[in-house]
Amino acid sequence: MTSVRVADTRAELAALLATARERCGAPGGADAAQVGLVPTMGALHEGHASLIRLARQRVGDGPVVVSVFVNPLQFGAGEDLDRYPRTLDADLEVCSAAGADLVFAPAVDEVYPSWPVPPQVTVAAGPVAELLEGRTRPGHFGGVLTVVAKLLGLVRPDIAVFGEKDYQQLVLIRQMVADLCLGVEVVGAPTRRDPDGLAMSSRNRYLSLAEREQALTLSRALRAAQERASYGVPAARWAAMSVLRAEPGVEPDYLALTTTGLDELPDYPEPGTEGRVLVAARVGTTRLIDNLPIHFTDDVVGTTFEGDS
Ligand code: PAF
Repeated sequence: MTSVRVADTRAELAALLATARERCGAPGGADAAQVGLVPTMGALHEGHASLIRLARQRVGDGPVVVSVFVNPLQFGAGEDLDRYPRTLDADLEVCSAAGADLVFAPAVDEVYPSWPVPPQVTVAAGPVAELLEGRTRPGHFGGVLTVVAKLLGLVRPDIAVFGEKDYQQLVLIRQMVADLCLGVEVVGAPTRRDPDGLAMSSRNRYLSLAEREQALTLSRALRAAQERASYGVPAARWAAMSVLRAEPGVEPDYLALTTTGLDELPDYPEPGTEGRVLVAARVGTTRLIDNLPIHFTDDVVGTTFEGDS
């Protein structure tokens, strides 16, 4: 039995939110409680639970809302929209155990009334959306930002929590919130991993046992890059690519070293530069992504090595 309240429609969401806001303090008053939002597409796992716990920690007694919505606008033709796991009963248990008060689980036409005709007005995600994931998934981030903007409008949270696992998404959501003055604090939460290093993802359930083993190559490649950071960007990239190429079951899409804002890095960054190393690869029929921070220390040493040419 779960203790969360579930809203299927915008009207129910508005009513439940109004009650929750009242219970927690006069809306708009000095003692008004903060509202937290954790947008998800369901198929929740421990990674999502950690986002909900973080929202709960941040808003104290205030309402924590989790949205569970498989957003068709962010899936391209031939992607896994139809087979994306839908596990609402189990999701409600996760939400309840992690401390959510309210789950918004709308049908598609509740979010997009004209569906299957897409909405006429959507968010233009800008140039960062064309990089990395955007090269393989054109239009993906426009779909993500559009639904996130709608969810922010429906819930009007003070904070919204997103995982660093989808790092490019997090960067773009921060940019949208800043550029459109949406007045919500975007909180990024570290990626949760299985003990062997595999980043938790709803798509991991597509993997066979053998593919799951092969998928570990992604986090190993990222760690190889981190370990070679003191030799500069080309060396770190080469180390990571060597790990990826050594596993025939893994088909790399991209491996990129960037600034934290996803800009290009010089080959030998200034000491103290913080960056990000990001990877996407196909394992069997499943496309996985992962990323880690990468730190360029004081002792970046230029070196000649076989990957430099
Ligand atoms: O990260 C996700 O699960 C989705 O992209 C999001 C942010 C819930 C939008 O559909």
